[in-house]
Amino acid sequence: MSIHKEEIKSALSQVLHPKYEKDLITLDLVQDLIIQDKYVAFTLEMPQKDDSLADYLKKECGKAIHKFVDKEAVLDITIGINISRQRELDGDDAGQQHTQQQAPQEPILPGVKNVIAVASGKGGVGKSTVAANLAVALSQTGAKVGLLDTDIYGPSVPTMFDVKERPNITTQKKLVPIEKHGVHLVSMGFLVDTDQAMIWRGPMVTSAVKQFMQEVEWGELDYLILDLPPGTGDIQLTIVQTVPLTGAVIVSTPQTVALDDARKGVAMFSKVNVPVLGIIENMSYFVPDDAPEKKYYIFGKHGARKLAQKLEVPFLGEVPLREQIRETSDSGTPVVAADPASPSAIALKEIANRVQQTVSIQTQSESSNSKVDIKIRP
Ligand SMILES: Nc1ncnc2c1ncn2[C@@H]1O[C@H](COP(=O)(O)OP(=O)(O)O)[C@@H](O)[C@H]1O
Ligand SMILES: [Mg+2]
Repeated sequence: MSIHKEEIKSALSQVLHPKYEKDLITLDLVQDLIIQDKYVAFTLEMPQKDDSLADYLKKECGKAIHKFVDKEAVLDITIGINISRQRELDGDDAGQQHTQQQAPQEPILPGVKNVIAVASGKGGVGKSTVAANLAVALSQTGAKVGLLDTDIYGPSVPTMFDVKERPNITTQKKLVPIEKHGVHLVSMGFLVDTDQAMIWRGPMVTSAVKQFMQEVEWGELDYLILDLPPGTGDIQLTIVQTVPLTGAVIVSTPQTVALDDARKGVAMFSKVNVPVLGIIENMSYFVPDDAPEKKYYIFGKHGARKLAQKLEVPFLGEVPLREQIRETSDSGTPVVAADPASPSAIALKEIANRVQQTVSIQTQSESSNSKVDIKIRP
């Protein structure tokens, strides 16, 4: 018998928060509930770091689930610090109750200025190709860039960057990214055998990604690009909620089916308040090598551009469908590094510039709003 979300919620509604004297469900502290057979994973949101309270609540959740739902349930409870919840939970008497200073926050990626997720609703639309070229193009502008390939079922970085070696581990047991074409690379494919990964379930993937955030020696980076697995399901949702994202870009082809999925992507990010930096259209038109002046709109014309207008998100540009883009990716040097003056590379570099501009606008407007909505999940 598999466990249902409602059963877990009902068990957790028996757990009282000692400070607010209400249960965890009423307080809306249980997020990202994922269940696979007996595996139950969720995030318990806390407005500030408090290890002893966290341990207490974890224990109580375990007791309630084992007692009311299934004594064999395997629990994976993550504590998420969401400081914007403080006022909400404390209500009007915040000032009276909190004479004590907030515990200093421990950031998840301390040296990283901007984290950008590259997502797509569908697989095979060129998300990894765009992510790889975006990373290289940003590093060509002088920025320090990392690329984390979180696609455990189909990692692309080992092929696209021709990485055959295994990464080094520091004495603090942190993984050192491999540097190629100016980009600091980490891929699930460096460590996990893809055949073996096929049997991994969603919650295992998300906890592996969390580990990758924290146990990699990223150092100082201007941009960390996340190549997300295709789709807009629980895995993607949990990943984007684990990381303090600056924003997300969505890759789509101009086809209706891909656009429908791109729309879901935009909706997913909006739901979790991650700014959508824009939509990139890949495979916009085919340019034959023997007639480079021609453009064939084989998947339809301007589909993603129109979608961006409709959803009122920026349109970041078009990437042509060209043999050279596939060839360079397959041979381990993304086109912006392999042939920087080619029309394909120029298109991708323009997109990188627009991403850079959008990020700086985004960061400026955020700091002027002095919005505090950082999610840190230790
Ligand atoms: N603009 C393009 N022109 C030619 N081939 C492309 C282009 N974009 C992607 N490809 C190729 O299409 C395939 C799928 O791309 P990939 O980036 O792996 O997609 P995803 O990450 O969305 O699954 C790869 O073989 C890649 O080289
Ligand atoms: Mg991919």
